[in-house]
Amino acid sequence: MLTNLQQQPADALLALIKLHNADPRADKIDLGVGVYRTGEGDTPVFRSIKAAEAKLVAGQDSKAYLGPEGDMGFVEALMPYIFGKDSPDMGGRIEGMQTPGGTGSLRLALAMVKRAGYKRIIVGTPSWPNHAQICADLGLGVVEFNHALPSGHTDMDAVRAAITEAQEGDAILLHGCCHNPTGIDYTNEQWDDIAQRIADAGILPVLDLAYQGLGMGMEEDAYGLRRVLVAVPEALICYSCDKNFGLYRDRVGALYAMVSDPADRAKVMSNGHNLARANWSQPPDHGAAAVRLILEDEALTADWLAELDEMRDRMRQVRARLAAAGLAGAVDLTPLGGQNGLFSIVPLSKDQVLEMREKHGIYMAGSGRINVAGLTMGNIDKFIGAVADVTA
Ligand code: LMR
Repeated sequence: MLTNLQQQPADALLALIKLHNADPRADKIDLGVGVYRTGEGDTPVFRSIKAAEAKLVAGQDSKAYLGPEGDMGFVEALMPYIFGKDSPDMGGRIEGMQTPGGTGSLRLALAMVKRAGYKRIIVGTPSWPNHAQICADLGLGVVEFNHALPSGHTDMDAVRAAITEAQEGDAILLHGCCHNPTGIDYTNEQWDDIAQRIADAGILPVLDLAYQGLGMGMEEDAYGLRRVLVAVPEALICYSCDKNFGLYRDRVGALYAMVSDPADRAKVMSNGHNLARANWSQPPDHGAAAVRLILEDEALTADWLAELDEMRDRMRQVRARLAAAGLAGAVDLTPLGGQNGLFSIVPLSKDQVLEMREKHGIYMAGSGRINVAGLTMGNIDKFIGAVADVTA
């Protein structure tokens, strides 16, 4: 029977890691999967995480199970950062649980959407490819709208039309900040407009916040999410600490549900617990416990925020350098200067992306997405030259 299974393609993004590792060229450049790199091209463990891990190892006296909700101290310590210090649980309307990374959170959120009876989810494209993959696996219909215009601005007409045309039983998935793959985020004014329209349409927002702090700042990057939450009665929020705490392989995330009546909170979240039990039972502890130890300690928190500032500043420098280059062959790199987070799209064809890899040893996603943190002052001229070469 097992031979009935069909061969599945390897995940295109994750496959790039192996292809890059196997390339013997010393001057190869990895702009593939979304991992932050320093100006030296490294992805070190955060100083604050190292310190928290040392405390954890010294102080942890048991590794007994915690339950499907994971470390609730971690889940609650994040809430003021996500939802704001003034009312981190929106008057008792928000409850969360720990998940294995942002993907675990999305998996639970979308399964809850399906279980609640929603039929379709509205998604701006391009989007992170795993969004569509999870929806397909759950049998949740996807209604697409165009996220951005070639000019590098969001396509507000498209998102407005998608919300206006929404039907009863629709949800909408929005990237909170640092849009993956385009780096093109809504402005605050656009979020105000979108939040009101979502509220008027009565559709359920699912907000994916996987890069908080890597765009404009921790507070600034939460603007859209908070704006939507004050406008609507219910929402699901998917959070990842993989990037903003550099905990990628430790899989650290959280799912939050906002309900209209605090009395429904436990019932709604019991679905998250029950789905977690059926999927992975309980989330891995180590990374989440380290995050909690940082957030419980003022000095560690300050150091973590300083590390985030350094990362953001470096990515801004890379973006400024790309924008200053202007035209690279047929590609205008100027718009990348104003985009946010790890990613931007360089408009190259599939053949040109392949030529970047084969001729120049530059690895990027087939969509033309680059991880700007893969660029350093030492390799950026080579990258710009290669774009010019393949588009000449
Ligand atoms: C990415 O888009 O590169 C990251 O979100 C990593 C992943 O899991 O795809």
